[in-house]
Amino acid sequence: MITPILMLGAGRMGGAILEGWRRANAFAPVELMICDPDPSPPALAAALNGARLNPPQAELAEARTVVLAVKPQVWAETAAEYVPWLRADAVVVSIAAGVRAGALAKEFGGRCVARVMPTTAAAIGQGTASLYADDPAALARAHALFEPLGAVVDLTDEDQMHAATAVSGSGPAYLYAFVEALEGAALAAGLPRKEAARLARSTITGAAALLAQSDAEPVDLRRQVTSPGGTTEAALNILLSNTGLPPLLREAVTVAVRRSKELGG
Ligand SMILES: NC(=O)c1ccc[n+]([C@@H]2O[C@H](COP(=O)([O-])OP(=O)(O)OC[C@H]3O[C@@H](n4cnc5c(N)ncnc54)[C@H](OP(=O)(O)O)[C@@H]3O)[C@@H](O)[C@H]2O)c1
Repeated sequence: MITPILMLGAGRMGGAILEGWRRANAFAPVELMICDPDPSPPALAAALNGARLNPPQAELAEARTVVLAVKPQVWAETAAEYVPWLRADAVVVSIAAGVRAGALAKEFGGRCVARVMPTTAAAIGQGTASLYADDPAALARAHALFEPLGAVVDLTDEDQMHAATAVSGSGPAYLYAFVEALEGAALAAGLPRKEAARLARSTITGAAALLAQSDAEPVDLRRQVTSPGGTTEAALNILLSNTGLPPLLREAVTVAVRRSKELGG
């Protein structure tokens, strides 16, 4: 049994997961327990629909699945706070960046553990979740939680979680930064602010939707919109140069991987 599900911490990411489950009708709100001193709007909405918000400690023993969704800085003290109340066969699914499965299992009294690196697009059913667990039952539990929220990718080696964090966990911010930069370039090219914002945003979301719906590779889609000697080619000569996007992104991902390792200890 997966439910009841106990979510420890329901801030930005925990809230996005709750919102995604609500949209997908994945779990009945009455099957959810949420502990958070400062719950996000989706957690408050779940509570209005029947989820138990900050239930009495004795009720925590009902939970079959525990989702750890607090900041990595406070994960260990949070685990220590709740572990006395959890049932022995509860499965722990952690989304805390960088916190290793071995450390989680130790702090959660040897319970089965899965790690997940999700994205906030889970809120609209378009999340991406990287999953890792030694234990097949824990992996299956993580699948059951995250499949209603978008794509799931199984990792075979826990060390790959650092790269998944750098590429996928942090990836949405890269795209938002790209859109910001494109809007800035549009302004600099003489477009009024409103039109610059509309053109940059709609062009990128449309192109991303086309990529999602097409069987073609990104390189093929790029070639389809690049005429020899045209405007796109002129711009791509800068973007794909030796100092352009590929080396920049390699460097960005490398430093993010390094930071993930530092945070994980
Ligand atoms: N945000 C993302 O895009 C993203 C993506 C992938 C993974 N993650 C992971 O998701 C986790 C949460 O990140 P976030 O951005 O959602 O953080 P957040 O917005 O700060 O949410 C964490 C929530 O946990 C609450 N909390 C703190 N201590 C608690 C305790 N002892 N018991 C119950 N709740 C407690 C916090 O309350 P207070 O505000 O009162 O401290 C806050 O509401 C992190 O481990 C992060 O690595 C986040």
